[in-house]
Parts: sequence; structure tokens; C-alpha cells
Amino acid sequence: MNRAPIGYDSVEFPPDCSWIKIIDQTQLPTREVFLYIYTVEELIDSIKKLKVRGAPAIGVITAAGIAMAFRSFTGKSYSQALEFLIQTIKLIVNARPTAVNAKWASNRMLKLFQNHFSDNKFNFDLCAILLAKEALIIKSADIKMSLSIAQNALPLLKKGFRLMTYCNAGHLATARFGTALSPIYLGNEKGYAFDIFVPETRPLLQGSRLTAFELSKSGANVTLVCDNMSSYLMKLGKIDAILVGCDRIAKNGDVANKIGTSALAVQAKHYNIPFYVLGPESTIDPNTLSGNDIIIEERDGVEITDLWYKNKMAPNNIDIFNPSFDITDSELITAIITNKKIYNFPYDFSIEDN
Ligand code: MRU
Repeated sequence: MNRAPIGYDSVEFPPDCSWIKIIDQTQLPTREVFLYIYTVEELIDSIKKLKVRGAPAIGVITAAGIAMAFRSFTGKSYSQALEFLIQTIKLIVNARPTAVNAKWASNRMLKLFQNHFSDNKFNFDLCAILLAKEALIIKSADIKMSLSIAQNALPLLKKGFRLMTYCNAGHLATARFGTALSPIYLGNEKGYAFDIFVPETRPLLQGSRLTAFELSKSGANVTLVCDNMSSYLMKLGKIDAILVGCDRIAKNGDVANKIGTSALAVQAKHYNIPFYVLGPESTIDPNTLSGNDIIIEERDGVEITDLWYKNKMAPNNIDIFNPSFDITDSELITAIITNKKIYNFPYDFSIEDN
């Protein structure tokens, strides 16, 4: 596996991070529109509007965004530069608070800055170069991470397996290949010929717009279903395993992922179907003790009532609850597969391990 399944990466930038190019994921699958980002404001807008999305891709663009923003720093001292970076990071991380990857990537960028500079040792040009280099390293590490997840997960799957995934934890959501979808790409390349069932993923339709798009573009066998059809598919015996991504894994193995993930896990337990969560080690947050401690992003109700319809599909002024993520309890998860290894219940991601 070395080629991007759809021919381009979701986040691209030059070695000096003077700009960032993304595929605008809100325009898919009908239009492949590329956007160039030059400022932090444009970057935050793209993250908030889900033009770029998916936990690892948000981590990569956060790193590139910090390097890009630093190029406009006009101060002279170490302490001014530190303050500039802290404020920039705060703005980017708060754009989507649930996924831990933005925090992880910005901690890495900040550590790099603090390791190289101090009160009486600061050089703007060197700092700009080092930050841009680190962003590139983070992107290449993310690509390697996807490949390792694919290699670790594939032995759990058999040729001809009928798989279900959810939301989009694929090429578009990462630097390349994906987390939940990477073993599918690797297996298909080796002749496993998987059948993949993709629920639409209301309300933003990442399943139908993005996962169905990238899998079918790669030549995979894809069947699209509505979210409320998953339990029936499982009852019919049509699903051999479920593979999903994750936005944050708590110390006890509870997982935050796209709203609707936990319903699939409950159904999978009932029908005795393996439920696998796939993600990079950087998605593990040992400082978050359980799912109860994860902040769940709530989004505008318009996404439910208006976004995809010509006419409004709910009464005016109806109360709306639109959480973007939910928590899957760790005991429902058959295994958590990372770029390092396969973890089994009971999970304990202590700080020393990660
Ligand atoms: O709101 P989104 O589209 O960013 O939600 C994405 C998901 O829930 C993914 O499953 C998760 O980020 C893992 S991506 C490899």
C-alpha cells in the first residue's frame, strides 16, 4: 500500500508550511473542490465547518497550522513567541474539542519549541524551519501509523468477510489510508474481497458522502444503508465484524466516536459480532479517566432539520439535541487496535504505557 486510495491526500502542505491545501469534504461526493488556507482564521473556519475532519487529519492540520501561523509572528523575544504559540493553539484546539489529536499535535509542537529555545536563546528563522519540519514529521508518522494499524488488524479478518464501518475513519480522515478503513484497503489489495456495509451516519452523512465515496473510488464492494438498518443486517447474519474509528480513548477504554457508534456496539454485543475500534496511540488519552470526562461537542440543530432538505423537515422552533459524538463503554469493545498492538478488555491505558 503506497498510493493514496483517491489520488490525493486530505491535507497537503509544502516544506515551509506557507499554505495548507485541503479537499473540501463538505463538497464531496459530488464535487472535488480544493481549498488553500493561509491564515489561522481560515483554518479554524475549515475545522469548525468540517471541511477538514477526522481525528488524525485534525491532528496533522493543527501541526501544519501552527507552523503556518508562526510565519506571521512579528515579536522579538522567546516569551512573546511562547505566548503567540499558546494563543494560536488554544484557538485551533477549541474549534473541535472532542478529538484529542489536535491537543496531542500541539503539545508536540510546543515541546519542540521549548526544547530548542529559552529566555536568552530565540531565533525566528530557525523556529519557523523547525516547526514546519515537525509538521511534516507528524504527517509522515500518521501515514506510517495507518499502515501499522492495517497490518495489526488484518489478521483478525478473513477473506470475504462482510464488514460494517461507521462515519468516516478512512483516507479522508487521516494523513493517508485511514484507521478503520486501512485494513480494508490492505486486505482488498491482498485479494480479501471484503463486502463493506456503510451506514449513512446522520446528521452529517460522513458514511454516505465520504466513506462510500472513497471506498468505491478505490474499487471496494460497498453497500450503503440507513443508520436504522444496522440491527436488522446483524440479525440477518450479514455482518461478520464491525470496524470503527475513534476520537478519544479514555484510560479505562471508553471510546468517543461519531454519534451512533455506541448503538452499533450495543447491537453487536447482542448478536455476538466482534466490534473493533481502530486508532493511533495518539488517540489514547490516559489523563481522561473514563468516557464521563470527555467533552462532547454539540452542534447546530440546523444540521438535523434543514441541511440536506429543500424544505425544513421539522416544526419551527422545535427543541433540538445534536451531540456530535457518543461514548462506547469499554466492555462493549472486543478489541482496540492501534499502530502498536491489539488491546483487549479490560483496558488500562496508564500514562507509563503511552
Ligand atoms: O465529526 P467527524 O466527521 O470529524 O467525526 C469523525 C469520527 O467520528 C471518526 O470516526 C473519528 O474521527 C476517527 S477518524 C480516523
